[in-house]
Amino acid sequence: MSKAPIELDAPRCASARAGANFALIKYWGKRDLALNLPDVGSISLTLERLCTETTVSFDPALDADELLLDGRPDPARTPRISAFLDLLRARAGMRAFARVETANDFPTAAGLASSASGFAALTVAVNAALAAGWDARTLSELARIGSGSAARSIFGGFVEMHRGERDDGRDSVAEPLAGVGHWPLQVAVAISTRAEKAVGSTEGMQRTADTSPFYRAWVEHQPADLAEARAAIADKDFERLAEVAEGSALAMHGLAMSARPGLLYFNATTMECLHRIRALRADGVPVFFTVDAGPQVKAICEPVALPTVRDALADVPGVLDVVESGLGPGAEVIDS
Ligand code: PMV
Repeated sequence: MSKAPIELDAPRCASARAGANFALIKYWGKRDLALNLPDVGSISLTLERLCTETTVSFDPALDADELLLDGRPDPARTPRISAFLDLLRARAGMRAFARVETANDFPTAAGLASSASGFAALTVAVNAALAAGWDARTLSELARIGSGSAARSIFGGFVEMHRGERDDGRDSVAEPLAGVGHWPLQVAVAISTRAEKAVGSTEGMQRTADTSPFYRAWVEHQPADLAEARAAIADKDFERLAEVAEGSALAMHGLAMSARPGLLYFNATTMECLHRIRALRADGVPVFFTVDAGPQVKAICEPVALPTVRDALADVPGVLDVVESGLGPGAEVIDS
């Protein structure tokens, strides 16, 4: 029998920071919508910049959850956050509404993984505020319920997210593959719009799974890409990682385009950036691309190539800004 939740008698507050992550081997498709169970595993890089900082204050004086994003109340996103808090409160056995103050140092919901860093930071902040004592695997499992990719931002460096087999999702968690020091790659992100994406990843994944004639082939092929990327990372084999990561990104977008109606996340600038990156690599510059559910292009390169890559992307018509980042640590508690 589960115990009755404990009512808080005084406010409890904590803050956490998490970096965004970009998948090299993409996650696209869910095997369970309610628990956010992925239909495929994925491999990602956690970033040092592109961070979310979140402060959560559980306060017995509140009569509803509140969300402030970048200093402003955000009623549109509050129900999703509130539902997620309900789950964490139930797991922790505590009852009190919360004020969540969250700030991104990059545009929200434009394909820069704001939900990944956001739900990872929130999960870690709640764990600290409620002294819930969740370990890293549990944090990853819980963050996944908020957003699939958030499970990966719990860890730093190179991270693998497991598809898992269980219906309860206990084995659909991420784990570290290699630390930042193993292979300190750099990332340059070419930003070509600050607008939010038209079709969110959950809706896009469902439409793809329901309507694409190629969805099963994607799911069946994924273990081969994961194995190839794992080996390339272990050997620090740049060319091998470049080929499999670009292949996975293009396959994900090809798959999304094959949904009915097809999903088009690229704009013209996206395409031009991909050609520039391919041309650089053909000239011997160690760089490759990935693109998520939005038009921004993420160029991953060896540190020596960063100035060349940055200048080449900044030169593409339509690129508004180029943001650079190294690999970063997993989500962590910070002083409020
Ligand atoms: O976790 P979500 O719902 O934001 O989905 C992430 C989907 C992609 O960013 C397109 C791919 C990935 O693996 O991160």
